[in-house]
Amino acid sequence: MTQFAPPAPHENVVVLTGAGVSAESGISTFRDANGLWERYRFDEVASPRAFAYDPALVWRFYKMRWENASSAQPNAGHFALAELERGLGERFTLVTQNVDGLHQASGSKRVLEMHGSLRRTLCTQCGATHPTDTVDLAPSIPSCPSCNGDLRPDIVWFGETPHYLKEIDSLLRNADVLLVAGTSGNVYPAAQFVHIASHFGARTLAVNLEPPENASAFDAFMQGKSGDVLPELANAWLSG
Ligand code: OAD
Repeated sequence: MTQFAPPAPHENVVVLTGAGVSAESGISTFRDANGLWERYRFDEVASPRAFAYDPALVWRFYKMRWENASSAQPNAGHFALAELERGLGERFTLVTQNVDGLHQASGSKRVLEMHGSLRRTLCTQCGATHPTDTVDLAPSIPSCPSCNGDLRPDIVWFGETPHYLKEIDSLLRNADVLLVAGTSGNVYPAAQFVHIASHFGARTLAVNLEPPENASAFDAFMQGKSGDVLPELANAWLSG
């Protein structure tokens, strides 16, 4: 295992995850071979303009992703992060770009879903959110149960601002260890988190199938599947 000292008993740990962590649960990543952005144009399915132009197409894309996510099970990587949270308590926070809900399904509680969630819909008229499993998804554009307005997926699209940025900034400034797993390091602001945490003194570690785009910014890199590497890491950190 790459030399990376476990967090000391008083140290704060922030974890950032991306699509790679859910790959072993059968959820498509975005930029791998046969990833979602090879099969769909992101500007046609994941932007406010796309929704204004063809909301039914956008909904078809997200209904398919909701179906996949709601039938998927968390994998060993998710469970390892939930285990780390149980061991580290309030010193641990998980920030995820994933929208599939699998971290929560594995028992993680301190989760910030910066790109929204497939498990919620958002009314474009009254602003109410509704759990996706309570909404009638049969119409090509589902309607708000409160006001009958058009619903959209409660997902942060390209051109929109991710959630929790203030809170995440403060977590990164106070982090002693930043672990980033299963993300290609292509999408900002998440790809920038390693620079912020490093600047404020954190030790940084990336876990990924292949070196991420921003690999040179990390102190250490462990190459492999998150379902293999994260359990190993959680064991080492919790017994250290
Ligand atoms: P990407 O698809 O860009 O990257 C996934 C990364 O996970 C790649 O570097 C893979 O090599 C790696 N990977 C694949 N399988 C893995 C495994 N089993 N274990 C470890 N790593 C593995 O996905 P993200 O970086 O999450 O945003 O993409 C970031 C954002 O771009 C997404 O949240 C989404 C997308 O456009 C929005 O939709 C707003």
